[in-house]
Amino acid sequence: QPDMNNDIERVLYSEADIAKAAKRVGEQLAADYQGRTPIILSVLKGAVLWTVDVMRHMQYAEVEFIDVSSYNGGISSSGNVDLVTDLQTDINGRDIIIMEDIVDTGRSLKFMIELLKNRGAKSVKTASLLDKKDGRVVEATVDYVGFDVPKAFVVGYGLDYKQLYRNLPYVGVLKREVYDPQHADIVDTVDITPNH
Ligand code: PRP
Ligand code: MN
Ligand code: MG
Repeated sequence: QPDMNNDIERVLYSEADIAKAAKRVGEQLAADYQGRTPIILSVLKGAVLWTVDVMRHMQYAEVEFIDVSSYNGGISSSGNVDLVTDLQTDINGRDIIIMEDIVDTGRSLKFMIELLKNRGAKSVKTASLLDKKDGRVVEATVDYVGFDVPKAFVVGYGLDYKQLYRNLPYVGVLKREVYDPQHADIVDTVDITPNH
């Protein structure tokens, strides 16, 4: 029987590491939003696992979903972001916590922050499992970070390659032979300096 785990070069954040990060971030959010009822805005599809694990550690909160997609297409590197599925509630005057699995170029996040502010959100903060700061093309700050992640092809725990691997319980580096079979001999070295 095929095993997804065999496609992974190396585990970066184990299931236990992620559980600890979710608890740390969730408890911090519970403290910071004490006495308020924020809307947790989970960004489909990648952020679903992180969202449900973090929110278990929080207090009164609503949960909503949004789906955006960014096109970093070959010719036009304009990086347009499309609203694919809008959230279904009025957010005027509300405190919003955007939940992401990863912030890379920052385009998706910047787009959502502007959208929510234009709709009258009282506050907008972001909690992301991974912050790939080296990937940033536009300015976008992650307020609550699970892990600072280096530039590597990471999958698992929500993160996909061609819609697969989201259901791995950990985050790992995908073997090059999976996404670039022509250059399978190139070894990617990844420097991990755990910050938490
Ligand atoms: C990925 C990821 C973030 C976004 C980050 O989502 O889950 O939402 O891209 O990239 P950025 O900082 O460069 O904008 P994707 O659009 O692939 O959809 P998915 O969550 O359904 O995989
Ligand atoms: Mn996403
Ligand atoms: Mg994706």
